[in-house]
Amino acid sequence: MESLTQKIQALMEQNQRVTDGNQYTLPSPELYPFQWLWDSCFHAIILSKFDVAAARAELRSALSRPLRRGMLPHIIYWEEPEDGNGNWGREMRGDIIDVSWGTKGTSSITQPPIVAKAVWMVYEREQDEEFLQSVYFTLKDHFEYLAYERAVQAYAPLLAIVNPDESGEDNSPRFDGALGLPAVQTPDIHLDARIDLMKQYASCGYSVSTCMKKHFAIIDVPFNIIYAEGLEYMARIAGELSLTGEVKKFKTCAKAVKQAIREHLLVGDMFQSINLLNKGHITADTWARFMPLYGGFLSQEEASVLVEDLCDTEQYWPEFPIPTASCAAESFDPVHGFWRGPVWIAPNWFIYHGLKRYGFTDVADTLKQKTIKLLETSGFREQYNPHTGDGIGAKDFTWGGLVLDME
Ligand code: GLC
Repeated sequence: MESLTQKIQALMEQNQRVTDGNQYTLPSPELYPFQWLWDSCFHAIILSKFDVAAARAELRSALSRPLRRGMLPHIIYWEEPEDGNGNWGREMRGDIIDVSWGTKGTSSITQPPIVAKAVWMVYEREQDEEFLQSVYFTLKDHFEYLAYERAVQAYAPLLAIVNPDESGEDNSPRFDGALGLPAVQTPDIHLDARIDLMKQYASCGYSVSTCMKKHFAIIDVPFNIIYAEGLEYMARIAGELSLTGEVKKFKTCAKAVKQAIREHLLVGDMFQSINLLNKGHITADTWARFMPLYGGFLSQEEASVLVEDLCDTEQYWPEFPIPTASCAAESFDPVHGFWRGPVWIAPNWFIYHGLKRYGFTDVADTLKQKTIKLLETSGFREQYNPHTGDGIGAKDFTWGGLVLDME
């Protein structure tokens, strides 16, 4: 692990950039040459283990470009990619950024709000109160934006996402139904559907409550679980800054979100996202079914049943867990699937903590060892084949560093 730690430090350093005094880390210089919101939160958690000042800088930078209504965008396009080959993704195609995002230098959608937790974890290392104070109001604005603009009336205070990209799992099978796509599909078809959504969002004037909810709106399980946790961290942060009234507000809101998650999203023994277009629960079988472990939404007994499911070698526990879709699902594609099968390290990190939370230490430890093996044999890749462990997608990808926080 020691040499792995050194490799992680070297990778983080290699991917670090500074633009106009903003210091941030590229998820992968070749394929993702900008700053992404939830990636930066992962980066801050990784950096907090060995360079707390860099971790603070990473978050300050991620928080530096809120949109008018307080929302933190999921991408900040600090600089043109060096090679200009546009390899990294769709938004560079033609004028899509300018036309569809309607912003200068950022996207106009967000990602799961894990930022309050990241801020807290970084703060905890050195208790730098000035840091906490400097980011608090931006964080608060973001959480208020979510509560006011994204809460869905009939299911309030649960939030809706308006593009699969907001889940961080771009082409997860959870979104197939809402996009009208079949279980077996090509990445291009998916990309086109998401570009259409970006255009629709622009024509809606970026209003979710009045317009976008007619095109695409999903109450997604992981997003809402991370939101509930984020509100709890907001209460802690407010407490540290002696903002008593706000502590109460965030705590009350967190409690209400947690209740609503169980009330509206639990169907039988599985938490399922809701497609607001038809008010139906989404039955697609993805790794997200284990997120309630992370969020603490289960009784010990329910957790035992779920962990048994997790350890099924035919579904979620092949040679290298955890595949992002069940190996038994029709949509499963271990090589080209992107979020439809290959292993990504962030889901492993979430579930590792969920397992620890409920005392499944042995399973958690095996997951950690298998994750380390992926990094040691295939390097820092964006994804891995759950059967062979081969690396897939972006190279020099940072998320592997999260093993430093599997302890
Ligand atoms: C991919 C991932 C997303 C991530 C981004 C940058 O689009 O699906 O979660 O934020 O890459 O790494």
